[in-house]
Amino acid sequence: MNFVTLKSGALMPQLGFGVYQIQDALECEEAVYAALQAGYRLIDTAAAYQNEEAVGKAIIRSGIPRDELFITTKVWVQDMGYSQTLKAIDRSLTRLGLDYLDLYLIHQPYSDVFGSWRAMEEKHDGGILRNIGVSNFTPDRLTDLTVFSHVAPALNQIEINPFYQQHDNVAFMQANGVQPQSWASFAEGRNNLFQTPVLQTIGGKYGKSVVQVVLRWLIQRGIVVIPKSVSPERMAQNIDVFNFELNEEELSLIAGLDTGVSCFHSHTDPERIKNIAGLHFDI
Ligand SMILES: NC(=O)c1ccc[n+]([C@@H]2O[C@H](COP(=O)([O-])OP(=O)(O)OC[C@H]3O[C@@H](n4cnc5c(N)ncnc54)[C@H](OP(=O)(O)O)[C@@H]3O)[C@@H](O)[C@H]2O)c1
Repeated sequence: MNFVTLKSGALMPQLGFGVYQIQDALECEEAVYAALQAGYRLIDTAAAYQNEEAVGKAIIRSGIPRDELFITTKVWVQDMGYSQTLKAIDRSLTRLGLDYLDLYLIHQPYSDVFGSWRAMEEKHDGGILRNIGVSNFTPDRLTDLTVFSHVAPALNQIEINPFYQQHDNVAFMQANGVQPQSWASFAEGRNNLFQTPVLQTIGGKYGKSVVQVVLRWLIQRGIVVIPKSVSPERMAQNIDVFNFELNEEELSLIAGLDTGVSCFHSHTDPERIKNIAGLHFDI
């Protein structure tokens, strides 16, 4: 496993396990347990995924010492603001059965970001949130939060995949000491990612699959990845990416797949912001 160093000096595994869209409690517990057995130590959940309790059960069942794990969760839009976020942090900790989090993120760059950040800074100073960061922030929003805060965001989790490579955004983060993290590294299979000929050809040279090429490409860019799978075979495949290296020619072939457009939605689209504002969960 490779590790990256966050602003706080904390080491974060460069490859972890995401649990978005594993809403069924038993399925989620089994998936996280299997991922931990397969060697994953970073788990990425969110209050909005409604599976923190299942993640917590799998952690206890695994028997892995707490200090060997790196657990991330996120505050949803309905809990933005100082006092709401303080309560949301407590509820997440209770559901996960933990007394601290390795990383806590603002899930979406909307509503009272500064109020939430003040709550997160307080919990960070108190040692409950070892690292704090954001998700889906553009460079302008990231800078605004950084220059007007006491603790700067350690990480920004954004969509990055072969069709939406985000080179400028990643370069900006890296120049400013913010760790980039990719969500939907496989674009959730959109645009036929798993059957992309360029990726198949490169994988064929190393005896690796398309997804292993994608994860390796992200890792070589210094990005943290959190692939999701409910299949133990795929979990094993997705973590087996530290024994080969892509060369410059292969990296430039992959660069040619960039469309510059999200495979999902733009976080600056007013209609999308209105839709997200209406997404309420029982959390
Ligand atoms: N911050 C945000 O706004 C945000 C948004 C989206 C996601 N995320 C985080 O990022 C994580 C990853 O993103 P994601 O789950 O949306 O999408 P993803 O990792 O791009 O794709 C997951 C899909 O790929 C399939 N898959 C996984 N490994 C495979 C393999 N080796 N071969 C073939 N198919 C494979 C999975 O199917 P099976 O499960 O059937 O194997 C699943 O359908 C999430 O779980 C979540 O933690 C964050």
